[in-house]
Amino acid sequence: MTDANKPTGTEEPKSRDRLLGMFEAAEGQYLSGEEISRRLGVSRTAVWKQIRRLKEAGYVFDASPKLGYRLADSDSALDARRIQAALTTSRFGRELTVLSKTDSTQTEAEKKAREGAVEGTLVVAEEQTSGRGRQGRVWHSPPGLGVWMSAVLRPEGPLTTVPQLTLLTAVAVCRAVRAVSGVEAGIKWPNDLLADGRKLCGILLEAVVEDGRVRHCIMGIGIDANLSESDYPEELRSKVTSLRRESGVEVDRSALIAAVMNEFEMLYELYNERGFESIRLLWESLSVTLGREIAVRDLKGERRGVAHGLGEQGELMMRTEEGDIVPVYSGDIELYPGTRAADGSPDGE
Ligand code: BTN
Repeated sequence: MTDANKPTGTEEPKSRDRLLGMFEAAEGQYLSGEEISRRLGVSRTAVWKQIRRLKEAGYVFDASPKLGYRLADSDSALDARRIQAALTTSRFGRELTVLSKTDSTQTEAEKKAREGAVEGTLVVAEEQTSGRGRQGRVWHSPPGLGVWMSAVLRPEGPLTTVPQLTLLTAVAVCRAVRAVSGVEAGIKWPNDLLADGRKLCGILLEAVVEDGRVRHCIMGIGIDANLSESDYPEELRSKVTSLRRESGVEVDRSALIAAVMNEFEMLYELYNERGFESIRLLWESLSVTLGREIAVRDLKGERRGVAHGLGEQGELMMRTEEGDIVPVYSGDIELYPGTRAADGSPDGE
């Protein structure tokens, strides 16, 4: 939890709880700063500071210059208490910061990692003003609708573990998304989640390396939970979707965040104990890539073939048009509508 969430044993939590109690009793009605300060017996500045701390802890307030403040609908706002109540982890998500707005949760989490934050420290935000995607792309992160979060990882292994961790993350998010929303998302190599051929989640792992070893790694996850078509810029609309668009139901983002952390910790422990093989099998079972005709675009240009399987390091093995099996370590792939059997013959032959 953020410091604002921690009981400190001072008078502060008491007045914070009284303040929260007042807002909850008001049932969504506005309370003026003057009334709050009178009822709590503290200054207007103290009220404002308490509200700021509650915002940092994940509570969302509507503010009106004339009417004062009211607590926004707690089911639809990110809520630190509800996230933590749904965690079954011992480490992931236990140190939690919920921000109403930030440039990028990657930057926030990286700062915490540099300052010594423990593995599993999580930063989530209602809105990102400079959300980052893979390969220098911008990640569209409007307020109140998505899951924009970053966690600190401190993996033991060499740099080659990082691609495996991106695949592990995709498996964790895919399982959590399916469990919480019922949407049958699938994984496009390496770690995009698709539904009906459109992207609904992106994953970005950024590693800080020292002397050939990973010092820490920031695992960024962006899930388009409750966005509508009109929430996207025009140029993205045909390529993306959201859980709400797919299921017709608003997703509880706090529950989804906790589910991702629960899945991730379980798989991460499995990976640390037994290695990549079990993750590879899970990834393959959730993949919408294998057996598909693909085009790979990387520094070598464009190559076409059929997605054949995952290699030991998490690389994609592609059968080329000449029949060779070649590894693809990075880059973007495009999926084509046709499928092929593992031996390269068209399906059904
Ligand atoms: C991709 O390009 O597919 C990866 C997108 C990753 C987006 C997430 S949102 C939370 C975290 N903060 C960022 O700035 N990016 C990642």
